[in-house]
Amino acid sequence: MTEAKSYTATAKWLHWGMALIWIVAWVVGIVAVHWRDEFNPQHQLTFLHKAMASTLLFLIVLRIAWRLAHPAPAMPNTMTPLVKRAAFIGHLLLYSVALVGLPISGWYWSSVADKPILVAGLFLLPPLVEADKSLYDLAKAIHTYTSWLCGVLVGGHVVVALKHHFIDKDKVLTGMLPGRVD
Ligand code: HEM
Ligand code: HEM
Repeated sequence: MTEAKSYTATAKWLHWGMALIWIVAWVVGIVAVHWRDEFNPQHQLTFLHKAMASTLLFLIVLRIAWRLAHPAPAMPNTMTPLVKRAAFIGHLLLYSVALVGLPISGWYWSSVADKPILVAGLFLLPPLVEADKSLYDLAKAIHTYTSWLCGVLVGGHVVVALKHHFIDKDKVLTGMLPGRVD
């Protein structure tokens, strides 16, 4: 199989679309919890958070299927094998923890709490497990700590992407920007 020079248009749409949803959902989640009295008195931000974030559960299926069928462009040779391996593991963590594990932990929390999730404000997500209030604190802690960990992970990912562009001056960031064809 010949190696692609950049990501496919579909991969770029999925990356930037999901990145936007993810970042907005993360900020809305933080504001919903930590500025509850000021901005979330009727739980409207909690509703928005769940409506947005739950769409990731569907988009990720499409994205993983697309990714398995379309290889990523080769990393530049200025990166050592060790750094390439670190980048690969970083991407794997973004997929498994930030895009799969975190939404599932939110789904789990709402399920044990017996609270609805209206996907994109359109239809109800069925509960993942039976409601069980005794698991509420555990489920809340899992979602909260994982969301902070993912904030650090995504923050690091953005810093590294900008470093590639402005310091290393390679094609890693432009390979994910619109316009280039492979
Ligand atoms: C099905 C998906 C999800 C559901 C049902 C869900 C549910 C929730 C709920 C109920 C809260 C508490 C809100 C409140 O008390 O007002 C929350 C908080 C939060 N969620 Fe999610 N969530 C989901 C996915 C995500 C995703 C994908 C992210 C990251 C983009 C995320 C990041 C956060 C953050 C940062 C908080 C605030 C944590 C804190 O500091 O206490 N959630 N989530
Ligand atoms: C402004 C924000 C972001 C920027 C500038 C950015 C930039 C990039 C770039 C340049 C790549 C290609 C890396 C390479 O070719 O080695 C990439 C890949 C990736 N990004 Fe982002 N990203 C952002 C936000 C996000 C967010 C929020 C997520 C998920 C929570 C995410 C998940 C991923 C994943 C999983 C890959 C690997 C794609 C693959 O090879 O299949 N990104 N990103």
